[in-house]
Amino acid sequence: MSKGKLIVFEGLDGSGKGTQIALLEKEMKKRGRKVYVTAEPTSSSTGGMIRDALGGFVRRDAFELSALFLADRIFHNANTKNGIRLYLENGTDVICDRYYYSSFAYQGIDADLDWVMDMNLNCSEIIKPDLCIFLDADIESCDERIEQNRMDREIYENKETQRRIRKRFFEVFERLRNAENIKIVDASRSIPEVSADIIKIYDSIKEN
Ligand code: TYD
Repeated sequence: MSKGKLIVFEGLDGSGKGTQIALLEKEMKKRGRKVYVTAEPTSSSTGGMIRDALGGFVRRDAFELSALFLADRIFHNANTKNGIRLYLENGTDVICDRYYYSSFAYQGIDADLDWVMDMNLNCSEIIKPDLCIFLDADIESCDERIEQNRMDREIYENKETQRRIRKRFFEVFERLRNAENIKIVDASRSIPEVSADIIKIYDSIKEN
């Protein structure tokens, strides 16, 4: 039996990842694939600590936050109950809403980027994705979506910070250009147009 594929979605807050993940999941199932959808931060106890920091209830230094995301990601990959590794090994594809690219872009604006990248990329427990899809929507429309959908804003959810994060994402994608399979999708188009692109990209990796 062949192993499942790990597909990661990235994008700014409000870029429409949830909608596109649901549409891709449906298409993959139509193609007879088993699919497990998951997200970071996880619902582990570390994930809870992270959410308290994102909500602004507890202040944490960017290095400390990077380390919490790292611990949560190791748990997410390696735990023996519902870890990503288990699903991939039994032939299930995994779609993950955010992964280490978010640590590079979000924590990488305040913590040392090389250190954050090194910790994540050189940890053998953390599986390298087969594909990363970055939904590239403009900051104004992301901000409108945050405004409509959220009761409160998290610490990163303001336009100035999102601008810095977006810049970091692109710097990181440039650095990883030869090492990782990253596809940037223009998410400012209609939902079906964006989805059609994503499905094409998925089909192109599925046979490899
Ligand atoms: P959440 O509200 O759970 O999801 P959404 O992706 O829909 O906004 O927010 C997750 C937040 O965590 C988001 O602002 C990005 C941030 N984040 C990091 O800062 N570093 C990371 O490594 C990850 C995985 C997420």
